[in-house]
Amino acid sequence: MFRAEPSAYSGASAQAEVYAATLRRAVPADLAALVALERHFPGDRLSRQSLRRLLHSASAEVWVYEEAGQVTGNAVLLCRTTSTQARLYSLVVHPQHHGRGIARALLETVERAVTARGCHRLSLEVRTDNAPALRLYKKAGFQLIRQITDYYQDHAPALRLEKPIASTT
Ligand SMILES: CC(C)(COP(=O)(O)OP(=O)(O)OC[C@H]1O[C@@H](n2cnc3c(N)ncnc32)[C@H](O)[C@@H]1OP(=O)(O)O)[C@@H](O)C(=O)NCCC(=O)NCCS
Repeated sequence: MFRAEPSAYSGASAQAEVYAATLRRAVPADLAALVALERHFPGDRLSRQSLRRLLHSASAEVWVYEEAGQVTGNAVLLCRTTSTQARLYSLVVHPQHHGRGIARALLETVERAVTARGCHRLSLEVRTDNAPALRLYKKAGFQLIRQITDYYQDHAPALRLEKPIASTT
C-alpha cells in the first residue's frame, strides 16, 4: 500500500485536492483501465487478451496505482517459480500524472514483490530512445547488460537492464 502526498492535480477545489492513493494488486475489474493505460505505451502494446491472461497467471503480478477511484499507473512483473530471475514486463503511467513519483512507487513495490517471490534479479527491456524510462531505471540502480537489435515490432533495438534485488531476510 502506498499513500501519496496530497496533490493539486485535480485543481477543482481545495477539498478535492486531498486524496488517498493506493498501490494494490490488480483485479479482473481493472482490465478496462489497464487496456486504456496501455495506449500510452510507446509501441508493442499488450493486448486486452494478454492483459486478461496476465491477470490470471500464477507467474505474473499486475500492480496498479489508484487515486480518486482512477487507475493512473500500472506495472507487470513476471516471475516463474522455477527461476530466480524476475522480469519487469510493463510499466506505464498516464501522461497527465507523469513526474509525480508514481513510476518510482510502482517500481519499489515490484522490487518488494520480487523479494517476496524469492527472486534475486530483476530484468527489463527498454527502447534506446526512451529517455524518461532510462533515467528512471538508472536512478533505481539498473545496469546495462546488453543491446538487443531488432527487438520491437518496428525493428527498433532494446537495451536489457538488470538489477540485483537484495533479500530482506
Ligand atoms: C517512464 C514513465 C513510466 C515514468 O513515469 P513517471 O511516473 O512520470 O516517473 P516518476 O515521476 O516516478 O519519475 C521517477 C524518475 O524517472 C525519471 N523521469 C521521469 N520522467 C522523466 C522525464 N520526462 N525526463 C527525464 N527523466 C524522467 C527521473 O529520473 C525521475 O526521478 P526524478 O524526478 O527524481 O529525477 C512514464 O514516462 C511512462 O509511462 N512512459 C510511457 C511508458 C513507458 O515508456 N514505460 C517504460 C517502458 S520500459
